[in-house]
Amino acid sequence: MLERPRRNRKSSAIRDMVRETRLDIAQLVYPLFLVDGIGIKDEVVSMPGNYRWSLELMLKEIEACIQLGIKQYILFPAVDDGLKDSVASYSYAADNFYLNAIHKIKTTFPHITLISDVAMDPYSSDGHDGFVDNGKIINDTTLPILSKMAIAQAQAGIDMIGPSDMMDGRVGYLREELDEAGFEETSIMSYTAKYASAFYGPFRDALDSAPKSGDKKTYQMDPANKMEALREAELDGVEGADILMVKPATLYLDVIHLLKQNSDLPIAAYNVSGECSMLMAAAEKGYLNYEAAMQEMLLSIARAGADVILTYFAKDYAKLMKG
Ligand code: PBG
Repeated sequence: MLERPRRNRKSSAIRDMVRETRLDIAQLVYPLFLVDGIGIKDEVVSMPGNYRWSLELMLKEIEACIQLGIKQYILFPAVDDGLKDSVASYSYAADNFYLNAIHKIKTTFPHITLISDVAMDPYSSDGHDGFVDNGKIINDTTLPILSKMAIAQAQAGIDMIGPSDMMDGRVGYLREELDEAGFEETSIMSYTAKYASAFYGPFRDALDSAPKSGDKKTYQMDPANKMEALREAELDGVEGADILMVKPATLYLDVIHLLKQNSDLPIAAYNVSGECSMLMAAAEKGYLNYEAAMQEMLLSIARAGADVILTYFAKDYAKLMKG
């Protein structure tokens, strides 16, 4: 036998040397849930170890995560039902706690990257990402609302906006509006191929943002489609996106791979709430080894071609790497 592949596996040092995929903490983005108030650290039941934080406690959490090497954060607001309306007006209100928090976090930690969510659902009384009229999601009425939200976030100091709404034309629309308002340095990480997935459940629990009626299938992509992701990627590229995202991640590794091969933009993948809670629940039952399964899951996303991974495992992964 001349060929013995096992020779390259015979020691930890050799395996380390020939490893094809490495995942650096610098590639990870840690999602955090923000709630108005003080002294709040409220665990998300379906995602053990993840919390809704009030700002002053979130600042401490970010400081701890910075010590572990995490440089990228994406922030989501849990908004009081009383502040929600059909046009998401609270999303750009002057006294909005999310905008205040962006400002505070960026002035406290100027060197981190802070990413926002741009979509109506956390602020909408309909619980949809776009404006609802007679049960329909109206694309072009939604765009100016998203633009007000994005500009307010840029004014607050966000480094990168994350349009997660899947309205047509929104990347180009937001790019132009941001530029016109003088925010040409504000980046756009576009949710390019965001699927109508059952795996966002725990996230919607965390934010209490589930649609009040209907589903998101007229704007989020059909899980059966792959070529359509290429079409979305081409459009986002032309419209000025800086990073393209695939979401969810592990169930869509083929899509990540496809976009990586067909675009020269960095590819991000969102390892969504349901993917993480699935693993956490199995680990809690003793069915899976948490640390090993988590590392393998993240590695598979990177191997598929993701340059950037948004994951609720970021802190635990960073701890493992440090330890
Ligand atoms: C909302 C948004 C969602 C997620 C990120 N932004 C939920 C949805 O589209 O219903 C999901 C993230 C996750 O599940 O971790 N625009």
